Amino acid sequence: MAFKHWPLVRDLRFAQKCGRYLRGARRRRPDLDWDEFRRVARHFTRDDMGSFPERGYLYQLAADAPADAQVVEVGSWMGASTCFLAAGLRGPDARILAVDNFQGLSTCGEDSAWYQRHFRRLGANSTLEIFRANAAALGFAARMEPVVSDSLAAARNLAARRGAIDLIFIDGDHSHAACAADIAAWTPFVKPGGVIAFHDFGSRADGVTRAIFEATRDGRFREIVGVAGTIIAFRV
Ligand SMILES: C[S@@+](CC[C@H](N)C(=O)[O-])C[C@H]1O[C@@H](n2cnc3c(N)ncnc32)[C@H](O)[C@@H]1O
Repeated sequence: MAFKHWPLVRDLRFAQKCGRYLRGARRRRPDLDWDEFRRVARHFTRDDMGSFPERGYLYQLAADAPADAQVVEVGSWMGASTCFLAAGLRGPDARILAVDNFQGLSTCGEDSAWYQRHFRRLGANSTLEIFRANAAALGFAARMEPVVSDSLAAARNLAARRGAIDLIFIDGDHSHAACAADIAAWTPFVKPGGVIAFHDFGSRADGVTRAIFEATRDGRFREIVGVAGTIIAFRV
């Protein structure tokens, strides 16, 4: 086990890093329940898919969505980002459709090697049960509905929801072609005035960055809502 994952070291690192993040977050957004954010973050201390500012920003985007918001996430993995979104949502009818093949399949070379290593360690061939267990442990199972599907197939099957989604978070296949296809397929689902957000903008996944630049150049989004780490959010 890596030194940073030793339980005591992990707890200390969590207390320091999360505490530092929360001090700023509570100042910036005193209206949000940061204890709830901390509860979710505590559950995901081994999460290596996002930083505190990124997780906090997802929480904030969800909290800023209307009550009973309808959310789509493309790329959920073990459900960490889904849980941060779920924690921020308000209203008994708020839902997140979590679209993922749950098999870490990717046409982005570096990613597929990473997933293969990860699955070898997990000794499983799907993250769906881990996703469900995380949702249940945090009390979000009713709010997070896994859609076990390829992203583009899900966009075709869910066509009736076009124009009805308040918030979409795209974090699926990070190749340029796949990200561009996700943008084309999912942007029409966002309500006018709704938000579409992306992970890994400006990261080593340069295909994602290029696809987002192209979409902004083509006028798909109205304005930038905000940036945190490698998350960028646009109003549609
Ligand atoms: C970076 S991970 C998502 C991490 C998650 N959003 C988080 O922050 O905790 C990317 C996920 O996208 C999924 N994925 C990749 N290509 C996909 C596709 N074409 N359709 C559906 N899911 C896909 C993978 O299975 C993987 O779980």
